[in-house]
Amino acid sequence: MFSDRTNWKLAHNRLTEALEKVRAGGTRILDLTASNPTRIELHYDAQTILGALTSPSALDYDPQAKGLPSARQAVARYYSAEHAADLDAEKIILTASTSEGYSYVFRLLCNAGDELLVPKPSYPLFEFLADLQDVKLVPYPLIYDHGWQIDFHSMQLALTPRTRGVVVVHPNNPTGSYVRENEFEQLNAFCRAHNLAVIADEVFLDFPLDGRRHRSFADNQEVLTFTLSGLSKISAMPQMKVSWIVTSGPQSQVNEAMARLEVIADTYLSMNAPIQWAVPVLLEQRKEIQRQLMSRVKANLSELDRRLAAQQACQRLAVEGGWYVVLRVPVTQTDEDLAIRLIEEDGVLVHPGHFYDFPGDGHLVLSLINREDEFAEGITRLLITMRHTRQLFASIFLSAALMSPIGAIAMPVPQDDHERHEQEEHERRVYDPDYRDYHNWDAREDEAYRHWLEVKHRTYVEYDRLDAKMQHEYWKWRHKHAEHEEHEEHEHH
Ligand SMILES: Cc1ncc(COP(=O)(O)O)c(C=O)c1O
Repeated sequence: MFSDRTNWKLAHNRLTEALEKVRAGGTRILDLTASNPTRIELHYDAQTILGALTSPSALDYDPQAKGLPSARQAVARYYSAEHAADLDAEKIILTASTSEGYSYVFRLLCNAGDELLVPKPSYPLFEFLADLQDVKLVPYPLIYDHGWQIDFHSMQLALTPRTRGVVVVHPNNPTGSYVRENEFEQLNAFCRAHNLAVIADEVFLDFPLDGRRHRSFADNQEVLTFTLSGLSKISAMPQMKVSWIVTSGPQSQVNEAMARLEVIADTYLSMNAPIQWAVPVLLEQRKEIQRQLMSRVKANLSELDRRLAAQQACQRLAVEGGWYVVLRVPVTQTDEDLAIRLIEEDGVLVHPGHFYDFPGDGHLVLSLINREDEFAEGITRLLITMRHTRQLFASIFLSAALMSPIGAIAMPVPQDDHERHEQEEHERRVYDPDYRDYHNWDAREDEAYRHWLEVKHRTYVEYDRLDAKMQHEYWKWRHKHAEHEEHEEHEHH
């Protein structure tokens, strides 16, 4: 009864299942994948935002395929103010999401089975969008060599007579890499030579971490170009459902494309009136929201760097912009198994690299927009596990019965006698009275530690069954332990 194109494997993946299970047990998960800006305690100017949605003009129905002119003009002003691009509002079409923008452009360019070249690694939504439009995606690799680069040689090899365009994500999610100036030129030359369109996703354009403003594709005149962006990232308001397509390039192609796109948009008329009247105000809000987000992202990135500098188990890859960062981790298991382990043992959610089609294991993707305290705590847990992964520790357990009648918590210890001896020596140093005084341990923590020593060779743990307070105690303890280890590693170097 159903189409092949919707014949997706809809079963939950193992990571989602593990997450649901741990959450159902009442454990609070530290979400290092947080990407919903409305739930990370940014300060939005509620009065202005909600006020903008009550324009009396919204009582009028004015079905305009491309969207209301006042909203499109506001988008053009944004490009002029932020990206020195002088755009004609008549070449802008409003859509309800960037995804909708993609689907219009895919429909415009491709017959069923036609191909588009897409970066790899990149954003996983493409697959579904392409399935729905009967388009075939052919990946071209981004290669990591002193930062991420487009592999133009592979792009050339990926070309077939059915190729219609090249998708670039500028900067890419999750690699955080912008299309460089020289790549911009190469891409134009490639597309011109093969009569291809460029589809540029610029939702993260305004979030540079390298202190530079990067050129937008919105006024690229060299080849037919569709630039996609919207309020979901620019003003951190995904709930408002406002995005756009800017069309640029050789005049005759632009005119033809706009005429056809207008019919596609007219078929759906997906923008509602109140939101369109609000666009100028909501776009203006970007200034304050971007300021907050940039400061959040930079603070989290520098905290991450500070923590990474004190260990050797993992490193981060270079990032130029956007909300995400990629960690390179030891490949002792698949990324998915590692991510599941982090959920089950540490209560930390990260994305395994394979979600984004990384070519091999050894990559985790973290979001940088979460609250600083959550982020720091998540990194602590993550790095403890990475350190122990590297050292091939086995697990034994900390009982916390003193504070909870059932308590017992997983703790890492060495596997063989020699390692065990070293670990005990280490613990003796970590927990000597001076060290404890120095860190102002309180009586509860002392008791917890003494108790842990007593029971540490027991082999069963029920972390999930600890109450929230005990879980918190446990993490405080591990945090201190980690700080001390970092301190020692520093000293050692
Ligand atoms: C690269 C990229 N493009 C597009 C989107 C989706 O944007 P929208 O909410 O406007 O559909 C996302 C969302 O995370 C994204 O990462």
